[in-house]
Amino acid sequence: MKIPIEFVVNGEPQALFVKPNHTLLDVLRDDLGLLGAKKGCGEGKCGTCTVIMDGKPVNSCLILAPRADGSDIITVEGLADGEPHPMQKAFVEQGAVQCGFCTPGMIMTACALLDEKSDPSEEEIRLALSGNLCRCTGYAKIVEAVQVCAQRIQQDKGA
Ligand code: FES
Ligand code: FES
Repeated sequence: MKIPIEFVVNGEPQALFVKPNHTLLDVLRDDLGLLGAKKGCGEGKCGTCTVIMDGKPVNSCLILAPRADGSDIITVEGLADGEPHPMQKAFVEQGAVQCGFCTPGMIMTACALLDEKSDPSEEEIRLALSGNLCRCTGYAKIVEAVQVCAQRIQQDKGA
């Protein structure tokens, strides 16, 4: 049996029938073809599946699809607006992307952090990203990218 859900993904209303045991990650990847959010552990430990749900970063592998009914979801595909989002640019420029598997989740968590706090300390950035694992970069460049992005957003606001 499938269950009807309606939700908004990257600004687009979606109406789907989902299996009750499927996750939000399954629906995004398999039903909507949004492959940015990755399946790493599938059990809430790696953060590669992070998307923003109603303004908060969530592990989409832990959200059963029926729970997404009525929600507003942003995935990494929804960030670019004609050109890459400032966080995407900062990640590339600072060398914060190596294999890239963790990158969509990192970026979504980092964007959610800056939405909540525009000028986080290094400690706050590291804490916010503590649920997102990266096996390549050693994290320093990721933290730098978030700092650079935060500075640019501050400068743009002041301009
Ligand atoms: S795949 Fe969701 S936390 Fe690892
Ligand atoms: S860049 Fe490879 S896991 Fe982070």
